[in-house]
Amino acid sequence: MNSLEQSVDHFRSIEKAKKIPLTFDNPKITLGFILGMYAFALEENHHFSTAEAVGREALKINQRDTWAVHAVNHVMEMEGRQKEGIRFLTSTVDDWKHSRILSCHNFWHLCLHYIELGKFEMALEIFDKEMAPRFKEASILDLVDGSSLLYRIELEGYSVGVHRWQPLIDAFSPHTRRILLFNDTHIMMTNRHRPQDAANLVQSMRDYIGRKDITNCTNRRRSEEIGLTLMEGLRAVNERRYNEAVHLLYPLLRDQKLIKIGGSEAQRDIFNVTLIHAMVMAKNPNYKGLLYDMLDTRNSSKKFGSPLTARWIERAKAAYEKEDEASFIPKSMQSAIFAPPRTAKPLNAT
Ligand SMILES: [Fe+2]
Repeated sequence: MNSLEQSVDHFRSIEKAKKIPLTFDNPKITLGFILGMYAFALEENHHFSTAEAVGREALKINQRDTWAVHAVNHVMEMEGRQKEGIRFLTSTVDDWKHSRILSCHNFWHLCLHYIELGKFEMALEIFDKEMAPRFKEASILDLVDGSSLLYRIELEGYSVGVHRWQPLIDAFSPHTRRILLFNDTHIMMTNRHRPQDAANLVQSMRDYIGRKDITNCTNRRRSEEIGLTLMEGLRAVNERRYNEAVHLLYPLLRDQKLIKIGGSEAQRDIFNVTLIHAMVMAKNPNYKGLLYDMLDTRNSSKKFGSPLTARWIERAKAAYEKEDEASFIPKSMQSAIFAPPRTAKPLNAT
């Protein structure tokens, strides 16, 4: 089945779904929620046009459906439609800003558009006004978003200030049990300027992995398989040990292992950008080809372009282009260092 047929098939499924005799109090609203969730699933599987159509269908039923707003915005994020995403989220903000679960996350998405455009002050203004006040009563999702937001901006060489990190550090402090690897990686980001806390966090994960009473726990296994390397990689970036960071992080991204830690593609993009940052900062000629491949992949994945990637391309050129081209290891030899998989795994492989 080609993508067009799949799209048609998805629409047929929606038409069928509309005919299902729902027994809830308000079947039409319930159908809207189902469509909103379906739209997000379509988006994460890269059926962008269908996802947007289904999400907008859900919003016709209930314009205050925050999950459907979120799904439609995810399409704009993935396609690089930053200005449209800003217009969409700001024009609908009164519909979703009171959502207890997702309002902070949608404000985070709004910030992502501004970060892509290089408008860090705008992102920080939204962080201060809309996200930080929600941290006191926050779900951990809000803390995760706050952490990755500040981290993204600092990777671009822009200091956000200790006063913005501190509330996140405080709010994360009760989370000493290793419940979910995805969250732990974001706690590590808050330790960006706190090497001892970063070392303690890694040790805490080692202790957790070594527990005999939870050997079958999925999170423990993920932490062992992926987590420790990922945490050490982030720690190396924080401590400016960039060559080590690349050696730790690159195989995880090359083998698409990070899909196993959860989160959306937009959330996990922080790890792509972190690796790009490490490769640029390392100024190691062995990484040049890999770096440009990563930049090219990120650029081509955004249908309407990525100003963020364009900035990193400029930084990469500044870091590498003055070097003697003859000193670079040819691409064919690089594969001996970082052999890419022969066949790419499907995106949703687990
Ligand atoms: Fe999201």
